[in-house]
Amino acid sequence: MKLWKGRFTKEVDAQVNDFNSSISFDSRLVREDITGSIAHAKMLTACGILTPEEGETLTTELAKLLAEIENGTVAIDMTAEDIHTFVEQTLTERIGTTGKKLHTARSRNDQVATDFKLYVKREAGELAALVAEFAKTLLKIAAENLDTVMSGYTHLQRAQPVTFAHILMAYVNMLLRDVGRLADCQARMDTCPLGSGALASTTYPIDRTITAELLGFARPSDNSMDGVSDRDFALELMSDLSILMVHLSRFAEEVILWCSHEFGYIELDDAFATGSSIMPQKKNPDVCELVRGKSGRVFGDLMALLTAMKGLPLAYNKDMQEDKEALFDSCDTAAICLKTLIPMCATMKVRRERMRKLAAAGFINATDCADYLVGKGMAFRDAYQVTGMIIRFCVESGKTLETMTLDDYHQFDESFADDIYAAISLERCVEGRSVIGGPAPKEVARQIASATAQLEAFGF
Ligand code: ARG
Repeated sequence: MKLWKGRFTKEVDAQVNDFNSSISFDSRLVREDITGSIAHAKMLTACGILTPEEGETLTTELAKLLAEIENGTVAIDMTAEDIHTFVEQTLTERIGTTGKKLHTARSRNDQVATDFKLYVKREAGELAALVAEFAKTLLKIAAENLDTVMSGYTHLQRAQPVTFAHILMAYVNMLLRDVGRLADCQARMDTCPLGSGALASTTYPIDRTITAELLGFARPSDNSMDGVSDRDFALELMSDLSILMVHLSRFAEEVILWCSHEFGYIELDDAFATGSSIMPQKKNPDVCELVRGKSGRVFGDLMALLTAMKGLPLAYNKDMQEDKEALFDSCDTAAICLKTLIPMCATMKVRRERMRKLAAAGFINATDCADYLVGKGMAFRDAYQVTGMIIRFCVESGKTLETMTLDDYHQFDESFADDIYAAISLERCVEGRSVIGGPAPKEVARQIASATAQLEAFGF
């Protein structure tokens, strides 16, 4: 049965009925819908639009219905047009005319905007908590690896020595910004559309501040046309989740490389890896590949809603019903990726010796050799040239900077002395980079403390 059947003489075409219906996905908003209705009923009562008895009956019955749906005694009727219809009809079947009074001074347009915003606001908070948990997982591993020297890369070529902690802290900083963005978007969506009516508010003497407060919003939205047609809050959360997924995908890619035989920097726990049906030796990082792959869905969801919204005239248009599946999918995808990455990282084995061993083989201290010559008075450009020739010599003679003799060094410059070996030791190279942001263990310890304090300031 439709809420709007009065002016029609025919039943709606069966296919149109299915096409138009949203209950298959908006049933997810049942808690928000009933909570919104309870607040609306209380407000109507406080404003004298409903009698105290009517208000009492409505709020009691709505709360009872929600409990029954949540404990499984009542199943949502999937033939209803949408969740709003289902709730109102069930209520009316139970309490008659009083149930029909619930929709006074309200439209499904402000109702759905309110339900959806409540949902999006809660999801933003839950996702921020998951991102914070992932950041904490990485912080813990970083704290255990302050001295774990490894090669840093540019162009995926060995570049300069860093530590595993330093690399993990790069990701922690991305995640901190993600938490910040989620908090920002939650704060910006803190206005309640309820009372905007279909588009032009209402002539009933309602008090929108009451519903806003009952529903945990800072204040009512400022314009009824905007109130019913704003979906920025969903777009903003989905934008934030897209950026988050870029970070998770880059991290996943990193782990995929790290657990390849060629790198061998980490080993995933058996519970977080998968095998091959034909190659018995395989231990695959499917979890990471799925995170990398699923990032595309989240970007696609954002594109779908941006495109659905961009040509809409004010105010509500049915196109906006497309907001839900896209947002639900984005939130579900980001959440499952985080929930899987957290224990995967917490259980992975860091192969410190392997990191250290590969770091020694790649001339990643060449910059430090040049800096050594600068310390002896040479201009950096010249020092760079000389070091380049030394590297060519090493490559041709199968030596490394560490295994070159002092005589070898003297072929290139007389100022080389015994202290060159200390200057190019990878540990020294890392320790020497102790400026703000550098990989020196005591500096990364400061970065860890700073990140921990920032998470705390966000309430995590
Ligand atoms: N199912 C609709 C949606 O999700 C509810 C609002 C319907 N409003 C309307 N005027 N048809 O957008």
